[in-house]
Amino acid sequence: MRLRKKHFAIPEMRENPYVFFDGQKNKGKWSEVFGNDNPIYLEIGAGKGTFTIESAKRNKDINYIMVDIETNALIYATRKILDEDLTNVRAMPINAENILDYFDKEEISRIYINFCNPWPKLKHKKRRLTYPRFLEKYKIILRPKSQIYFKTDDLELFEESLDYFKDCGFSTLVEDFDMKLDEYPQNIVTEYERKFRKLNQKIKFGVFEHYVN
Ligand SMILES: C[S@@+](CC[C@H](N)C(=O)[O-])C[C@H]1O[C@@H](n2cnc3c(N)ncnc32)[C@H](O)[C@@H]1O
Repeated sequence: MRLRKKHFAIPEMRENPYVFFDGQKNKGKWSEVFGNDNPIYLEIGAGKGTFTIESAKRNKDINYIMVDIETNALIYATRKILDEDLTNVRAMPINAENILDYFDKEEISRIYINFCNPWPKLKHKKRRLTYPRFLEKYKIILRPKSQIYFKTDDLELFEESLDYFKDCGFSTLVEDFDMKLDEYPQNIVTEYERKFRKLNQKIKFGVFEHYVN
């Protein structure tokens, strides 16, 4: 879905002290930015931020960074940081392809990928946020034995992602083709998830551990 261009988005985000347009300068120094040594969880493709904002409200001892390439969505996420008075969230409008410019080796303790674009055409699959070229980068910034949490409505994307994770040396901790809400009381429903659940689409959920010998 293409969002209408929000001309106010970039100027407004530039005024927000929790948003970084020059996040490269914080590479390896995110703990200093947060002012503590709490674990840092990263959401990639955060959209309007429902997931990270709710997570940050529930877990004040975790630091969260949400990134999205689309400023027209991220503007709403970043507003919520201020509205909710959250000090444990930062945001960056970036392309996940360049993630290694922003985070140092083993700087991140968990990654969330929620309802990334499925890119079903063969020639576009490499754009998937779970595609091996992305996973290889995530492996560098993740601490050993930390995890990637992945949710999607798309069966083909989920099945093929299971292979991507395996091929990249992750071990699968959870593989659920029909994530029932009552079985996951801690689950935070994202914006896209709400839409798909309304349509009675089965939500697929996986947890993959960055396995190190
Ligand atoms: C379908 S939306 C899902 C939004 C949200 N995670 C949710 O579950 O409601 C996918 C998001 O991923 C973002 N995205 C796609 N490719 C990206 C990339 N290469 N880097 C960063 N964000 C990306 C899009 O801009 C979009 O906001």
